[in-house]
Amino acid sequence: MAKTYNISLIKGDGIGTEIVNEAVKVLDAVGKKFDIIFNYKEYLMGGCAIDATGNPLPQETIDGVKASDACLFGAIGGPKWDNLSRELRPESGLLRFRKEMGVFANLRPAVVYDELTDASSLKPEVIKGVDIMVVRELIGGIYFGKPSGKDETHGWNTMVYSIQEIERIAHVAFKLAMKRDKRVCSIDKANVLDVSALWRETVEKISKEYPEVELSHMYVDNCAMQLIANPRQFDVILTGNIFGDILSDEASMLSGSIGLLPSASTGESVAVYEPIHGSAPDIAGQNKANPIATISSASMMLRYSLDEIEAANAIDDAIKKAMSDGYRTGDLAAYDCKELVNTQQMGDIIASNIL
Ligand SMILES: NC(=O)c1ccc[n+]([C@@H]2O[C@H](COP(=O)([O-])OP(=O)(O)OC[C@H]3O[C@@H](n4cnc5c(N)ncnc54)[C@H](O)[C@@H]3O)[C@@H](O)[C@H]2O)c1
Repeated sequence: MAKTYNISLIKGDGIGTEIVNEAVKVLDAVGKKFDIIFNYKEYLMGGCAIDATGNPLPQETIDGVKASDACLFGAIGGPKWDNLSRELRPESGLLRFRKEMGVFANLRPAVVYDELTDASSLKPEVIKGVDIMVVRELIGGIYFGKPSGKDETHGWNTMVYSIQEIERIAHVAFKLAMKRDKRVCSIDKANVLDVSALWRETVEKISKEYPEVELSHMYVDNCAMQLIANPRQFDVILTGNIFGDILSDEASMLSGSIGLLPSASTGESVAVYEPIHGSAPDIAGQNKANPIATISSASMMLRYSLDEIEAANAIDDAIKKAMSDGYRTGDLAAYDCKELVNTQQMGDIIASNIL
């Protein structure tokens, strides 16, 4: 009997609808192949929600997503709403949404496709074969620690982690490593920061529960260097909020285009899968956006929320085939392009590679 999953869709603003539609096309193709039924339900968030309801995050969206098995998200925001007050802007809806979903783990893979090694600013021989997963703690650390503030002469923030916060993110990293190359590199600044010393001790303790996984530690400044010097050495990178913020952006640039990279935010409730890019208002409505980051996010959803590994692999292989056959959207037109395609055509090609 076919397995059925309820997927909440938040298409959002700008290119959001265009790219999520292509991911749905590809999900339907794997559904057909692997006898899986996806029931989709759409919810509003961001600028489109402001236009329809006056609120960037309607309660119906929170309730609907919480009741689903997983959420696929496009992007929100755009110049139309930039002049609204802070709490009414689309971005405030997204921050509230993450909090509502309790997503404490942000997973950002950085994968370099063989065909696109020229698209990176690093030498092909350095980045060929890179396949890194950055696991970043998302709702603790210095961005949230108290006290914080500023007066006329000083500004201050507090970097604080509890053992429980470190333990739960460490489990996410070790579990992921078990499904990958079984290596975790934990990043901290334990030579200077007490909070990092606790981080390191706690990660060591949790690693005992995963004897098959090899654990190493690296200081964050060294990690920033190593990502450029020898990125292939990494499998899973585990780190806190501020270090992860910086390192995941650095790692994402190894692959060359923002249009390729997916992400997952997981935690206490339903996981949310989304491209790392924004709503690209400059190309919205033109059928030009690269849908691969969103299609890849759908693959992550199958792998990590629904445990449909074969279906996830089928999507990843279909993307790789589209790349090796030389199909490129405009953002990658300069790299080994045999045929320039639009957003819908790229979705069609990837879907047909699955069937
Ligand atoms: N998670 C989110 O929803 C999210 C994340 C970042 C930015 N934003 C919002 O998006 C809006 C635009 O922000 P921005 O311009 O700084 O970042 P952006 O990521 O939307 O765009 C940056 C550049 O990358 C290009 N680009 C992005 N995605 C692409 C794709 N799939 N294919 C081809 N090219 C692509 C754009 O055309 C643009 O030139 C803002 O309102 C911002 O707040 C939303």
